[in-house]
Amino acid sequence: MKNWDELYAECMDCRRCSLADTRHNVVFGEGARDAEAMFIGEGPGEQEDLTGRPFVGRAGQLLDDMLEMIDLRREKVFIGNMVKCRPPGNRDPLNIEQEACIGYLRNQVALIRPKIIVCLGRIAAIRLMKDDFKITREHGQWMEKAGVWMMAMFHPSALLRDPSKRPESFVDLKTLQAKIREICTHTYND
Ligand code: URA
Repeated sequence: MKNWDELYAECMDCRRCSLADTRHNVVFGEGARDAEAMFIGEGPGEQEDLTGRPFVGRAGQLLDDMLEMIDLRREKVFIGNMVKCRPPGNRDPLNIEQEACIGYLRNQVALIRPKIIVCLGRIAAIRLMKDDFKITREHGQWMEKAGVWMMAMFHPSALLRDPSKRPESFVDLKTLQAKIREICTHTYND
């Protein structure tokens, strides 16, 4: 396991997959290094690729609103992605790309030691929770894995595409808020 500085340096220079050829920036992830909750998306989009920061485009603004609804701010949690470089045209990251990148995320999880991991969308849920995860049926359900509470929500981009999913996501957020109140110690409303 690498420390933060080593891990960051390695990610910045990474050429483990061909996404390195087309990226403008590696999107390492950001937030608290002692976060009790981590949010894991799919991969950087255009704005993220251009800025080097996760979830800063339209989906990111919606994620910020969702966090605010349950008194969370991004500084208090850690926000990352399954892959750290943008898949061209925002396609799903390929298995081979996820495989090349997952070690970085595992190292981040090992350093942060979160109590809760929220998968944003099916790509993260399939990879981190179980390989037959069905987001439509299983979003909002908790699964404990290696001492970490995990749940998946619809990806904010899916909510932008299909606003009819928003009420279900609101319920999931409330479920998350209840879990945070139950097991987390940081104060989230200051
Ligand atoms: N979508 C993602 O999955 N991750 C980001 O960082 C931005 C959009």
